Amino acid sequence: MAGRHRYPQEPMANETMTNPPVCNYEGSDYQTSFWEQGGREYEDRAEAIALRKLLPKSGKIMLELGAGAGRNTPRYAGFERIVLLDYSTTQLAQAQERLGRGGKHIYVAADIYRLPFREGLFDAATMIRTLHHMADAPRALAQIRDALSPGATFILEFANKLNLKSILRYWLGRQVWNPFGLEPVEFVKLNFDFHPKAIRNWLGELGFSIERTLAVSHFRLEILKRAVPAKLLAALDGLFQPTGALWQLTPSVFLKARMPENKHGKNLIPDRVIDLFKCPDCGNQKLEEREGHLYCPQCDAKWALREGIYDFREKL
Ligand SMILES: C[S@@+](CC[C@H](N)C(=O)[O-])C[C@H]1O[C@@H](n2cnc3c(N)ncnc32)[C@H](O)[C@@H]1O
Ligand SMILES: [Zn+2]
Repeated sequence: MAGRHRYPQEPMANETMTNPPVCNYEGSDYQTSFWEQGGREYEDRAEAIALRKLLPKSGKIMLELGAGAGRNTPRYAGFERIVLLDYSTTQLAQAQERLGRGGKHIYVAADIYRLPFREGLFDAATMIRTLHHMADAPRALAQIRDALSPGATFILEFANKLNLKSILRYWLGRQVWNPFGLEPVEFVKLNFDFHPKAIRNWLGELGFSIERTLAVSHFRLEILKRAVPAKLLAALDGLFQPTGALWQLTPSVFLKARMPENKHGKNLIPDRVIDLFKCPDCGNQKLEEREGHLYCPQCDAKWALREGIYDFREKL
């Protein structure tokens, strides 16, 4: 069962049969146990500060990948519409409770490896604490690139294997894996830490340019977190975050990457929600609205719409 913590980072993986496998948060109490009761006010505030430094002030349509229970979503208030995408419908239901149904929020259950959106749609995307679960990170990043419009902003948070603690542990012989190696390390099933250079290489190969790098969560130490109020510790972290331009030795790193501009300008963003989607099975961009589902006339697939969540994980 996902949601029980045997490691301070993230829940135990409950692997799906998809390929690559998905770390399944269905039924997980992640938001409550990890954030609200997990003593992570400092981390949450430090992330809010990093996001404020990186987010565009305003925009048309934002894609939040691995949105979970919508912890960060209110921070994207400058966007006219926000698509919350997550594999777990129970996480999305919690996000609905927090943010409400309808209005500017669109809830989508889908696999990041198989995104159900028209190409070149979003003018911004964020992916926070989610690449962490990707066994095939370059494949996930390529899917995201395809969904972004020319000139779009992509804010990516990743767990950094080259952090001070892991370097010290390695030097002291208390950790077998080498933090300096470029390959991801899977320290718990479906939980990966990445080398900053590997991430930069993958983004570069996909055509992104990296505009800013922030080192985040310098003070993720129980003793400090207990002694110093979270607000103050996070403000201090905020002062140190820009050092990410020079080195990244923190457990968390935020990047702001940009898609190349296109001389034909941006694509038009459709008004109707149905026109945001493509069929993830056959790529058809003209889905039809039916009672309780979206229908793909090209391959006959039916994609459920239940409780305000468009579900593209498995066809009906
Ligand atoms: C650690 S939580 C982070 C949630 C949120 N971004 C936050 O920071 O509070 C990771 C989220 O990624 C989602 N996830 C993991 N693998 C996924 C995949 N392949 N496709 C879509 N969502 C995925 C999980 O369901 C979970 O909600
Ligand atoms: Zn289809």
